[in-house]
Amino acid sequence: MKRAIFATVVLGAVLEHQLQAKLAPKAFEPLPLGTIWPAGWLYDQLQVQTDGVAGHMHEFYPLVANTDWTGGDSYYSYLEEAGSYWFNAMVPNGILMNHTVIKKKSREFLDYVLDNQDFTGWLGPEVGTEKPRYLWGRYPFFFGAIQMVEYHTELTDRVVTALHKFVRLANTMLRNGEGVDKWAETRWEDFVVTLQWLHDKHPRGQEDLLVDTMRRLKWSGTPWEKVFSRDLFPKGPVEQIPNPFGKDLYWHGVNMAEGLKALPATYRFTLNTSDLEAATLSWDLLFKYHGRPSGAFGADELLSGLEANRGSELCLVVEAMFSGSYLYQVIGDLKFADRVERMTYNALPATITSNMWGRQYLQQQNQVAAKNMTPNPFPEDGPESNIFGLEPNYPCCTVNFPQGWPKFITNAFLATPDKKSLVHLYLGPFSARLMLADDNAVSVSVETLYPFGDILNYQIRAEKDFTFYVRIPSWVSGGSLSVNGDAKQRFSPNENGLQKVDLKKGATTLVLEVPAEITVGMYPRLSSSPNVVVDCQMAEYRPHGSVALHRGPLNYAFDIARTEKVLKVNPDEPYAVDLEYDPAGVWEYAIDPSQLSFHYNPPEGNVLPSPVFDSGKTPMSITATACHIEWPLGGDMFTSNPPKNPECIGENTVITLEPLGATKLRISEFPVFNASKNGVEGATNSRAQVPLKL
Ligand SMILES: *[C@@H]1O[C@H](CO)[C@@H](O)[C@H](O)[C@H]1NC(C)=O
Ligand SMILES: *[C@@H]1O[C@H](CO)[C@@H](O)[C@H](O)[C@H]1NC(C)=O
Ligand SMILES: *[C@@H]1O[C@H](CO)[C@@H](O)[C@H](O)[C@H]1NC(C)=O
Repeated sequence: MKRAIFATVVLGAVLEHQLQAKLAPKAFEPLPLGTIWPAGWLYDQLQVQTDGVAGHMHEFYPLVANTDWTGGDSYYSYLEEAGSYWFNAMVPNGILMNHTVIKKKSREFLDYVLDNQDFTGWLGPEVGTEKPRYLWGRYPFFFGAIQMVEYHTELTDRVVTALHKFVRLANTMLRNGEGVDKWAETRWEDFVVTLQWLHDKHPRGQEDLLVDTMRRLKWSGTPWEKVFSRDLFPKGPVEQIPNPFGKDLYWHGVNMAEGLKALPATYRFTLNTSDLEAATLSWDLLFKYHGRPSGAFGADELLSGLEANRGSELCLVVEAMFSGSYLYQVIGDLKFADRVERMTYNALPATITSNMWGRQYLQQQNQVAAKNMTPNPFPEDGPESNIFGLEPNYPCCTVNFPQGWPKFITNAFLATPDKKSLVHLYLGPFSARLMLADDNAVSVSVETLYPFGDILNYQIRAEKDFTFYVRIPSWVSGGSLSVNGDAKQRFSPNENGLQKVDLKKGATTLVLEVPAEITVGMYPRLSSSPNVVVDCQMAEYRPHGSVALHRGPLNYAFDIARTEKVLKVNPDEPYAVDLEYDPAGVWEYAIDPSQLSFHYNPPEGNVLPSPVFDSGKTPMSITATACHIEWPLGGDMFTSNPPKNPECIGENTVITLEPLGATKLRISEFPVFNASKNGVEGATNSRAQVPLKL
């Protein structure tokens, strides 16, 4: 009897041990780099990025330009931050554009770093030096290396061997309390995601060590479930709130954008559904209290609340996009995908010049100038934060932003866990070619102007019958699906929000129509998790009674006329200029939200101009009845908060709003007025006389 009990206990321990070395499966599987390619306007957009600072910085920007091409120690210093970020972005950028030089540079970077791994397993500039070793700088490099292996499978053994060697060292360091500085503390999840990739694809019998390392990273790092808990989460701009952790970096925008991956990654090794709920809660809290109509959230270094003149850092935009893609893969709740699409089509282009040579550090929803601001509205950032240029305020966003478009593209399609079905997650023009389970070779091409058009034309070929899924965004109103030219059917999304289409082998055409209404505020998709109550059916709340307008994924803004001044020209690269923008026209408008119309002006030959994210270039606009009001500046030069119940000082007029991503100076959170009550002379008749700018 005693023996039997003993055996049961031991068996229990063994089972628990095995259970702990397992990882929870993801709801959907990402596809390797090289499966999904951009098409149409999206291909053009990546070409614009490649022709801009992203594709040229290796030639002239000292943080990543390799002047000593024979090697030397140059690459090592890059692995601290800049080179690691650059590599993470340029691997997919180079491959998606089939760009000979960028592919060669990124391959040389990989070779140099791996060839110089030291005998302990360390990768990076601290080899052979007395410098203390901190783990974080390598994490973006790991993401780049994984992407490289996905495309160049012949590199698998070399990269995986180097990573396993590094993991053994990292595990020992963590046991000895080494390697965790303030960045490794806050960004631990990025290493966990890499460890999980090893565990899923190339465990080499090291499952226990991998999971043990995940745990040690978590327990030596920021307790994100506490930071994102209902009680402790900051419900407003944090400079006004005492930090219960005594650590500013826990409320740092980029750390939090990356930290959104922490709880879904934790769930994968704890298998505790509380971690999944905490993951969903973190997303909801962040966007409820700091969300922007652009889809991003406000953090001008630290969380900044809801005011439209506060900043959102470019790095947090691309990191939150990447985290949202990961959250959807683990949890399968489409609200993550809806918001990633909004960030990509609004916040990302809004903060970079149309030719993608200049980027801001911080963007504002209401941005009436982009210049040296003294004083400035950002408590933790400098006066140049919203200038468009090479590296205003800090250089990190220059090297980190280029991951945005490429990773949006590579995460646009997913497979179901059984690899039998394909999911089209982010709507836009793409092509995909892959082998599904049972040797089912499938190719998909999607021709569309979306988000600058409502119709998606799919051509699909498959060796065998299979199921295709497509995300129907929450903002779609009506809409239809037609298979092989048959009658249009209404959408009938299944419980996870995806529209299922059973396809026969051979060629199929699908036509998807995804129209939307103008909405005052964005109605969030209800969470599929019943325990999360932060999401609500109300439209997004904007302070001071102001409103933001949306149609489909796009947020609309009044594009303020501007003058441009060149502040600085890089001595080595004449395209790398710092630009100041000043307003050159009235922007102090209130709008009447009951008098809005949507206009669509189809582009000639169904081809969008290039670059499309520029004033007057997109085919869509919203006209609004507006009146001129008094709206003072808050400083030189930013707006004060939108006035509540403003008085008109001019007659009714009609203003044209454009997609936010096409504007550089803008108002996109408007005070409201009632056009029928505007007592200013001529007010009621003016609407028809103003020509619409289309
Ligand atoms: C990439 O370009 C090379 C020529 O530079 C060509 O041979 C190759 O087929 C291209 N690859 C893809 C995937 O388009
Ligand atoms: C799951 O996580 C919750 C919250 O952290 C904790 O209270 C609970 O004990 C955990 N459950 C298990 C089985 O570990
Ligand atoms: C605007 O004013 C008109 C005229 O007084 C009134 O009938 C209407 O209800 C008002 N609209 C709103 C939204 O308050």
